[in-house]
Amino acid sequence: MNDQNKTAEYQAKIKEAEKNISSVQQSPYALKLHMMPPVGWLNDPNGLCQKDGIYHIFFQYSPFDARGGEKFWGHMQTPDFIHYEYTGAPLAPDLPIDRNGVYSGSALVEDGIIKLYYTGNVKEKGSEGIMEGRDANTIYVETKDGINMSSKKLLMTNEDYPDFVTRHVRDPKIWKEDDTYYMVQGAWSKDYKGHVLIFTSKNGINWNYSHALTTAETFGYMWECPTIFPLADSHFLSISPQGLAHEEFRYQNIYQAGYFQIDGDFKGKYELNNFQEWDMGFDFYAPQIFEDEKGRQILIGWMGIPDADYSNPTIEDSWQHTLTLPRELTLSADGKQILQRPVSELEKLRKEQILPDEHPSGEIIYKDLSIYELLLNNVSSSLSITIAKDLHLDWNEETGVFSLSFTGKAGYGRTERKTKLEKLEDLQMFVDTSAIEVYLNKGAVVFASRFYPMENNHDLLIQCNDCIRKLWELSPIKTTYHNQ
Ligand code: FRU
Repeated sequence: MNDQNKTAEYQAKIKEAEKNISSVQQSPYALKLHMMPPVGWLNDPNGLCQKDGIYHIFFQYSPFDARGGEKFWGHMQTPDFIHYEYTGAPLAPDLPIDRNGVYSGSALVEDGIIKLYYTGNVKEKGSEGIMEGRDANTIYVETKDGINMSSKKLLMTNEDYPDFVTRHVRDPKIWKEDDTYYMVQGAWSKDYKGHVLIFTSKNGINWNYSHALTTAETFGYMWECPTIFPLADSHFLSISPQGLAHEEFRYQNIYQAGYFQIDGDFKGKYELNNFQEWDMGFDFYAPQIFEDEKGRQILIGWMGIPDADYSNPTIEDSWQHTLTLPRELTLSADGKQILQRPVSELEKLRKEQILPDEHPSGEIIYKDLSIYELLLNNVSSSLSITIAKDLHLDWNEETGVFSLSFTGKAGYGRTERKTKLEKLEDLQMFVDTSAIEVYLNKGAVVFASRFYPMENNHDLLIQCNDCIRKLWELSPIKTTYHNQ
């Protein structure tokens, strides 16, 4: 299926909107290490995969409005996570089956083809859209290059999903084991409980519902963006649940994203245990995980969150949100925790190491740094870091609390996020123009947040007794745009 007139109409409209790319790049908050939208709004990473050495990174994209709106898939590609090319928005909501959004989905590379599966969202005006008034179509499309797409094929409609779910079913993620294709989709059941639906297929086109995964106790009403993935000998289920009650040290954002360890076999007898959040910061949601050609499990998240009560001044510059750095996942030695680390390719961005400027009080202040990486080892009793005057990272061994907090205006409504740690041994931190990612204890705990420096302040202040410090200014990643 396709509608060439509608597709051409959309492409012309996108071309018009993307004339603004160079002015978006002039935004004082334009990112230098993170993938940002060419113009407009970005949310979930989609269709992550690697084919013939090239990484394909699609993303939810609303080019016409920085506050969100019609959802397309934009496409970036990179051979090395340093040189990126934006090639356009190859999937548009141009058919009746996806007219209210080409929603999230995933990729499977097979026989030289990138096979894409996504949710075509259809909403009836004026309807509540939970028990009725919404269609979630599972749609398939193929591409060899992420640019030219085959016509779209409708694989499943709500009629193909089990009776116990509402109209909210979405975000297909596909993989293959032996001769069977598996698909997971996120679902909201009629009794308001988050589930993952599992479908199987012998050819990737004709699918049958198999069964659903959930927890014994209700864990939120909706699970978005599910992924099942292996690490060492264990299997994990990543979900983005909605509806968890806030706690002082957990679930502090409006919605969460994290992983369960799957004990047993998700195809038969299983238990979902030990949910851990991927990221404790203000801006993280809807991550996707894929295996690259080196066999690495790589996670990219949306560095943003829906319905938050804090904001981003970049809207005034006609863009909003970014993706996280690509993070490699490994399992901790005790097998209980996933460790996240920015992929090692990013070490190539390091310029010469900066030497500390010793201060009489024992503090170290670095002036006017805008994009950099800091590594601290041997952190022991306490640590305090201030970035751009208003953003603070604090660790106190006595209370065991690590926090990321704002004073002043740089948080645009962001206040404090915190966690309890048994110990803090090391910290790795990437600071971009208006985004920070902090990795603690070899990446067992991560905080990602946007921040907006005031008065052009780009200072870094570190108080840490006996820490071993390494600091590098970083070169920016390089992005080219197809129509520039
Ligand atoms: C997660 C999500 C997905 C959906 C997409 C729409 O942020 O709500 O469930 O497919 O965004 O943009």
